[in-house]
Amino acid sequence: MKTKILTMLRGKQDYVSGQQLCDFLGVSRTAVWKVIGQLKEEGYEIEAVKNKGYKLVKVPDILSESELESRICTKWAGRVVHYFDETGSTNNDCRRFMEEGAPHGVLVVADMQKAGKGRRGRTWISPPGTVIAMSIGLRPDFLPDQASRLTLVMALAVCKTVEDTTGLAAGIKWPNDIVVNRKKVCGILTEMSAERDYIDNVIIGVGINVNQTDFDEEIAKTATSLRLECGCVQNRASIVQKVMDYFEVYYEEFVKTCDLSAIMKEYNEKLVNRDAQVRVLDPKGAFDGVAHGINDAGELIVTKEDGSDVAVYAGEISVRGIYGYV
Ligand code: BTN
Repeated sequence: MKTKILTMLRGKQDYVSGQQLCDFLGVSRTAVWKVIGQLKEEGYEIEAVKNKGYKLVKVPDILSESELESRICTKWAGRVVHYFDETGSTNNDCRRFMEEGAPHGVLVVADMQKAGKGRRGRTWISPPGTVIAMSIGLRPDFLPDQASRLTLVMALAVCKTVEDTTGLAAGIKWPNDIVVNRKKVCGILTEMSAERDYIDNVIIGVGINVNQTDFDEEIAKTATSLRLECGCVQNRASIVQKVMDYFEVYYEEFVKTCDLSAIMKEYNEKLVNRDAQVRVLDPKGAFDGVAHGINDAGELIVTKEDGSDVAVYAGEISVRGIYGYV
């Protein structure tokens, strides 16, 4: 009921009468009044005026199920939300929900993670009240080999969201870090449960540095937040909503071909490594070259110093700028 009341209040610039809410929800005025009270306790500012009704004046920066479900209007991405004030890792929670039968597109969000996972076994720090830690669960109908490409689909969705929300120029450091002013604002971790030729589920975990004002010394050189870069506090729920909007559109393009042909041009325009000198950290031997962009499999095309081109696959390999992170 909370979600429905919020959706109705959001849908109107003006007052929504108590009677309208009762009729729509089929409940008593007291029941409506109780929920309005709960919303106020959560930090919503709701004006209540006699003979006019209720008006939503201000929303808090929270990521609750009602807040997100009343915003997200996609077909399937993020239509079902599970929220935790605190959890270990939203990727792990999301996997559990998928194993219990959650629908394609289920979204798990936490205000803070105690055991956030990064790529290559690293930890991902998600302090309370300032970041987005979310994971979307998918049930794709394509081959396991193609699933890692979804990371790039999500990277583009986040990159576009950051630009729309902050007005900042955002870029993608191949394959899936989102950077602003050459520092990382978002990391993505994709995990899959699959048989040899069948995907059971794919979890795409997204960590966005939104409103932090400082970082630990060891990451301060390479990490930043949207707030630090644009100088203003951002509403996290609005960012989650936009990511879901973009992701659904790009995902639906992607599944038509199961390659990145539909979004490759847009992705390459955002690629910060494009035409840049890179060091490819291949476990079989690092090499330097010039990166040109991705192909439709999501591999990075790099021209080596001997003039030959290689297609670098994201799995085991990472790429650095030759003078640092980007
Ligand atoms: C990276 O190393 O760049 C990837 C970081 C991914 C972090 C996100 S936060 C939400 C989700 N849950 C996790 O445990 N990890 C991902």
